[in-house]
Amino acid sequence: MKIVAQIKAPIDHEMEHFEKKFSKAMATKVALLNRITHYVVNRKGKQMRPMFIFLIAKMCNKGEMNERTYRGASVIELIHTATLVHDDVVDDSNRRRGFFSLNALWKNKIAVLVGDFLLSKGLLLCIDNDDFDLLKIISVAVREMSEGELLQIEKARKLDITEEIYFEIIRQKTATLIAACCAMGAKSVHAPDTEVENLRKFGELIGLAFQIKDDLFDYGEEKIGKPTGIDIKEQKMTLPLIYTLNNASAKDKKWLINSVKNHNRDKKRVKEVIAFVKENGGLDYAVTKMKAYQAQALQLLAPYPKSPYKDSLELMVNYVIDRKK
Ligand code: IPE
Ligand code: IPE
Ligand code: MG
Ligand code: MG
Repeated sequence: MKIVAQIKAPIDHEMEHFEKKFSKAMATKVALLNRITHYVVNRKGKQMRPMFIFLIAKMCNKGEMNERTYRGASVIELIHTATLVHDDVVDDSNRRRGFFSLNALWKNKIAVLVGDFLLSKGLLLCIDNDDFDLLKIISVAVREMSEGELLQIEKARKLDITEEIYFEIIRQKTATLIAACCAMGAKSVHAPDTEVENLRKFGELIGLAFQIKDDLFDYGEEKIGKPTGIDIKEQKMTLPLIYTLNNASAKDKKWLINSVKNHNRDKKRVKEVIAFVKENGGLDYAVTKMKAYQAQALQLLAPYPKSPYKDSLELMVNYVIDRKK
């Protein structure tokens, strides 16, 4: 069996239900918006966040989950989708999930408004059902994601990013949402606070590994359904480049910074930078860091008794770093 099918096996039925509920959660009477949300729903992503929510809820609660767990999954996926729609505007990116991004098809104005619509739909889904405990978890994540994206822009302008700041950026922009989803899975079945916190931490570690993997994709040439090689173009310095800079001679450092600062739209020069990073161990270093987070995440799962849900979660932790898109 393929690895994703194997991960999904204990939640197959729930994932099927989820898709219907998720599509319903986007409903609107505005015709243009309706067309766009259909476009979005028909180009679904990996749905890793709902998978985490369901597996965690079931692991915490003897295989049982409930309507709150479903709502939590819809909220997270709505907010995730909203941030991707906005992210493609911010990054000026024209592809997402193998198709055109919303900004490529409908332009920035509409993409910004659709992102806001999806965000509000997510928050309202919690409010309308009095899931205020879940709303609190998700609202913190939304705030942190905006802060992380802005910190990233600030650093891209000044080009003064350190490894420490890189980790803070990815913790905020990516890891908090995955942390929120693991916390919500536990909270939805009323797990005790210490357990919710432990699983939040688990999600955060996975989220860090997840974003390092995403940043590694940018250095590759594989078809992943969105553009590669755009980080340097956007003057976004990620872990492989940061490491390489910190370990380069003064002369090479100057060349690297100058490349990112003044030649970031020159395709040949960007390729040279990528080659330099590869030759100087930048990718290997990022892989080592990613694996360290993977190991830490697995450690947090270790105390749970064996179950199909735990088995799937372990597979999922490995999938985060072995995935092909
Ligand atoms: C993409 O997330 C955004 C990042 C945090 C890197 P996913 O890779 O989970 O996106 P989809 O939903 O599968 O497209
Ligand atoms: C991840 O940022 C998206 C958010 C966390 C909002 P990136 O810009 O690095 O992700 P991709 O590569 O476009 O999916
Ligand atoms: Mg971005
Ligand atoms: Mg992007």
